[in-house]
Amino acid sequence: MTLTIVGYGNVGSGLAKQFVQAGHSVTLTGRSLDKARVVAESIGATTLPMNQAATDAEVVVLAVPYEQASDALAALGDLQGKVIVDVSNPLTADYMGLTVGFSSSAAEEIAKLVPTAHVVKAFNTLFAQVIHEGAGFGEFKGSVFFAGDAPVAKKTVKALIESIGFDAVDAGGLKNARYLEPMAGLNIYFGYGAGLGTQIAPAWLQR
Ligand SMILES: NC(=O)c1ccc[n+]([C@@H]2O[C@H](COP(=O)([O-])OP(=O)(O)OC[C@H]3O[C@@H](n4cnc5c(N)ncnc54)[C@H](OP(=O)(O)O)[C@@H]3O)[C@@H](O)[C@H]2O)c1
Repeated sequence: MTLTIVGYGNVGSGLAKQFVQAGHSVTLTGRSLDKARVVAESIGATTLPMNQAATDAEVVVLAVPYEQASDALAALGDLQGKVIVDVSNPLTADYMGLTVGFSSSAAEEIAKLVPTAHVVKAFNTLFAQVIHEGAGFGEFKGSVFFAGDAPVAKKTVKALIESIGFDAVDAGGLKNARYLEPMAGLNIYFGYGAGLGTQIAPAWLQR
């Protein structure tokens, strides 16, 4: 698949690394092409300026802080028909609460900004450290919950998740990002508040 990842920070670099290893063609972009290049060269990705980066991409992964999503999307230009993966968690400054919730979600707010694209929520419940390390948890695989309204876009994101070894868990429509974002908040509590560390991830069991 041809992917563009916006943001070369903790999550963007981890996803880029995993997607390159899985054989995808990955372009990294962001506000600083120099910074993007440093990461891209270390993992075998390429770089493009923001205003060119989405043109040939089948999937655009938005790996920027939620507050920056609007600026980042505007800088990408035309996104009509693109699959946009939103990994964000709209956290308060102390990481202990959410700034959006109950009647909307970061994913739904982002979708309003790009009405001709197909936004799929995914990866937000994984710590960046887990993404960097990969899907294996001993005998178990990590889960990636994905939620969206366009079936074809969801199928693409499911394939992407499975290509890097995670279990892809269909969490329904984009509205269910209202559940996935607080789930990430709980994960952050377990990791930092309860001291379990960042090599943990939520999963859903079925008997
Ligand atoms: N860290 C985690 O464990 C984790 C887990 C799940 C989800 N998330 C979510 O993933 C997203 C990224 O988190 P992170 O931890 O990777 O953050 P990070 O390490 O701070 O990286 C953020 C990236 O976004 C870029 N950026 C900021 N504003 C931008 C803009 N307007 N246009 C283009 N690029 C911009 C930054 O680059 P410059 O500042 O150089 O422009 C940087 O590369 C957040 O929404 C977060 O909630 C994080």
